[in-house]
Amino acid sequence: MEKVYITGIGKYIPKKVLTNHDIEKMVDTSDEWITTRTGIKERHVVADDQCTSDIAVLAAKEAMADAGLKPTDIDLIIVATITGDMQFPATSCVVQRKLHAKNAVAFDISAACAGFPYALSIASEYIKTGRFKHVLVIGAEALSRFTDWTDRGTCILFGDGAGAAVVSNVPGKTQSEVLSDYLGTDGTHVGLLNTPGGGSVHPATHATVDQRLHYIKMEGNAVFKIAVKSMTEAVNGILQKNELIIDDIASLIPHQANLRIIKAVGKAVKIAEERVFVNVDKYGNMSSATTIVALYDAVRSGVVRPGDLVVLVAFGGGFVWGATLIRW
Ligand code: UT7
Repeated sequence: MEKVYITGIGKYIPKKVLTNHDIEKMVDTSDEWITTRTGIKERHVVADDQCTSDIAVLAAKEAMADAGLKPTDIDLIIVATITGDMQFPATSCVVQRKLHAKNAVAFDISAACAGFPYALSIASEYIKTGRFKHVLVIGAEALSRFTDWTDRGTCILFGDGAGAAVVSNVPGKTQSEVLSDYLGTDGTHVGLLNTPGGGSVHPATHATVDQRLHYIKMEGNAVFKIAVKSMTEAVNGILQKNELIIDDIASLIPHQANLRIIKAVGKAVKIAEERVFVNVDKYGNMSSATTIVALYDAVRSGVVRPGDLVVLVAFGGGFVWGATLIRW
């Protein structure tokens, strides 16, 4: 089996900022409520002429430059997204064209907020078997296009952004190595978090648009509890699988949906608060992009240092959850 290295990372966050005060003008909410209930202060949204593949490409270019690779060196592109450019084809095909990565095969995966750990798991298996040498793994979302800006229960939470990692069979500038992953799925709660309209159940009609079915729907309170339980299981599961204890982990990098969820998971797995990375205040929940952008910020700010054992953990609609163990 080949080893799996992260040889480059990149991110792109759209320039336009939407603060809690901006949202106060749109729905019946307050900066105080959003801050205390979620930890979010602001999020970014794509420009009118930007779509998911555009921001994916910008994150990917930085990751490839970081890895010292050209687009033609990439064998496979996986885009994790729930807000693709179109229903089909895959956004990864658009990314492949925009990057001129003509040697790469490309597909998307839909694993909502767990998109990055899921995509990284797929990439790792392809590297381990020797099938591919360099895989571009991207998490990219334009959630603002699917957010109901009249629903205060959801519109306060989401933001747009993209993150990317190059995963290779040889080390890059650092020895950052993907060691293991842990994935879980429970399809019994599909109704708690979804975008019901526009698929084969409710194809787009005037009625589905009038009923706002093409926007994200969530039973926030129920999702909150399952998120804490599932991410706790994923962290404990990956530690057990690798015969580690929580004190071996230098940084826990959780999905950034809500600061209260992050704190509850940290408490449940008994890790000191200062070892749990948080950037939800700046970006909100960027679904598939969240964990890779958090890893990027943790590395670039010096929180994660070479040699550190790091656990990424995420949870999202499906429900799906996953953790990745990395030695940075
Ligand atoms: O990425 C994975 C998927 N997403 C998540 O993991 C998110 C999970 N859920 C959450 O983060 C939280 O459930 C929310 C932030 C969405 C909501 O927080 P909560 O503490 O679960 O509040 P709640 O839904 O139980 O609502 C409490 C009250 C309600 O009022 P009443 O019925 O008590 O009078 C809501 O109507 O807060 C009200 N409320 C708001 N008030 C002001 C709900 N949203 C807002 C708002 N501003 N934006």
